Amino acid sequence: MNARVETFPLREAAAAAAAATSPLPADTVVRFEAVGRTFASGDKTVTALDAISLDVGRGEIFGIIGRSGAGKSTLVRTINHLEAPGSGRVLVNGQDLAQLDENALAAARRRIGMVFQHFNLLSSKTVAQNIGLPLRIAGVPQAQIDAKVDSLLALVGLEGKRDVYPAKLSGGQKQRVGIARALVHDPDLLLCDEATSALDPETTQSILALLRDINRRLGLTVVLITHEMAVIREICDRVAVLENGRLAELGEVWRVFGAPQADATRALLASLVHDLPDDVQRRIVAEPAGRATPALLDIRLDGVSGRDPQLAQLAQVLGPELQLVHGGVERIQGRAQGRLVVAFQPHDLVRQVSQLAAALALPAANIRLLGYLQHD
Ligand SMILES: Nc1ncnc2c1ncn2[C@@H]1O[C@H](COP(=O)(O)OP(=O)(O)O)[C@@H](O)[C@H]1O
Ligand SMILES: [Mg+2]
Repeated sequence: MNARVETFPLREAAAAAAAATSPLPADTVVRFEAVGRTFASGDKTVTALDAISLDVGRGEIFGIIGRSGAGKSTLVRTINHLEAPGSGRVLVNGQDLAQLDENALAAARRRIGMVFQHFNLLSSKTVAQNIGLPLRIAGVPQAQIDAKVDSLLALVGLEGKRDVYPAKLSGGQKQRVGIARALVHDPDLLLCDEATSALDPETTQSILALLRDINRRLGLTVVLITHEMAVIREICDRVAVLENGRLAELGEVWRVFGAPQADATRALLASLVHDLPDDVQRRIVAEPAGRATPALLDIRLDGVSGRDPQLAQLAQVLGPELQLVHGGVERIQGRAQGRLVVAFQPHDLVRQVSQLAAALALPAANIRLLGYLQHD
């Protein structure tokens, strides 16, 4: 039997308020202006990017998420003109790279580092030679290259690996080399295309910590593409959601993840949402069997509003029979985020829900009645 779900109109109001207060970056490093790009594929035309407009602020870690084929790589490749926009324009530090001659374009590209999923290291060269290669090509004297490579090795935590060949490195170490190489020209912008997608979860964490450290220490702006929601949640300040080449949603991570507006975002976030266990799901009924049938409330802490829930506080409103059925609360960038499903014996349901909303400082829309919980 289906559970009856009450919805409250405040949900939309809360989302609108969140969207209205989303701040724009003060100092823009990358500006996309109605950027479009199509590809010919046989006799069809694929629209990889469809009028994308957004700004990336200086010092941000800016995430781009979307399904495979959504246009993420194409968008990021327009930043350093590995891919020229078909329409619209991209400004980097106010400069349109499309207007530059070959030399000026090469110089502008040096200010933009790039890290790849598969590291792209040269197997016949040592770690130091891989990192120093862009400087050698640029004709920098060897002593200067050595000094730069040593400082980068220290930065990425690979001091002992200077003369080792890539084959002897773990995936995480290879990506550290990739990051060091991307920083060799002291860029102010670092582009990461699925930089952690080939790594196991633990190594992913250590690479993300390194990126955050570099972002803070060097004030480097990072644009990070991933299909992994947990990566975005871990380190990004703002996130853009792409779907079929369109910008589906844009905002601070805690807002977008807390109160997703676009279907595309909700679908991507499904991997982070814990659904009710089967045994609970089976017992939910729409109507109470009697006065003693517990009601089931779903309390959503969206990180946007509200306080951390205290069990004592919940019990005060919902009664001492309160039972935590499912869920948990975690903190994302200092804000409570999560879901609690609680069962309790209602005595005045509508009043209890509004008291609970007040006690937790949550919009009533964040509290839903899932139904009633019958015995097995
Ligand atoms: N060089 C290319 N030639 C033809 N089609 C391309 C090319 N690059 C990308 N595409 C197409 O553009 C769309 C977006 O691709 P991409 O930017 O790589 O997506 P994502 O990085 O989000 O997986 C896809 O449909 C892809 O097949
Ligand atoms: Mg891609």
